[in-house]
Amino acid sequence: ATVRHEAETAPTVCGGLVEANHAGHSGSGFCNSDNAVGAAVEFRVNAAAAGPATLTFGYANGATESRPGEVLVNGTVVGTSQFGATGAWTSWASQTVTAQLNAGTNTVRLRATGAGGLANVDYLDATTGGSEEPGGG
Ligand code: GCU
Ligand code: CA
Repeated sequence: ATVRHEAETAPTVCGGLVEANHAGHSGSGFCNSDNAVGAAVEFRVNAAAAGPATLTFGYANGATESRPGEVLVNGTVVGTSQFGATGAWTSWASQTVTAQLNAGTNTVRLRATGAGGLANVDYLDATTGGSEEPGGG
């Protein structure tokens, strides 16, 4: 199943300001992270069972350069991503990484590795539960 976790809604922690001044975002706003290395948004993702998950981050980057970031699951770096320029702060796109989750609560932290901080972060869609059984259904 896929569950959307909004960047502006607890228990998500936005390392910056929750804002809504750029149209087209999901939910009631987005996280405008601090423009600094280490700026982060931390989501809490529940998984019914341990296994692989697809983590899709909605974002906008109206700057001219990519905003690089790394994804940490329960404190361990599991992937990196370039959040490329989307042309405007009102143009939203997504980036996906896959990672192994534990059963129960997991922290998924998106952390900036560049001085520009993160792109504006809209949501995390987490798909857990693995694939269907062959021959099932
Ligand atoms: C602008 C924009 C913000 C964005 C910021 C940035 O100020 O309005 O939404 O976060 O640029 O460069 O990070
Ligand atoms: Ca910002």
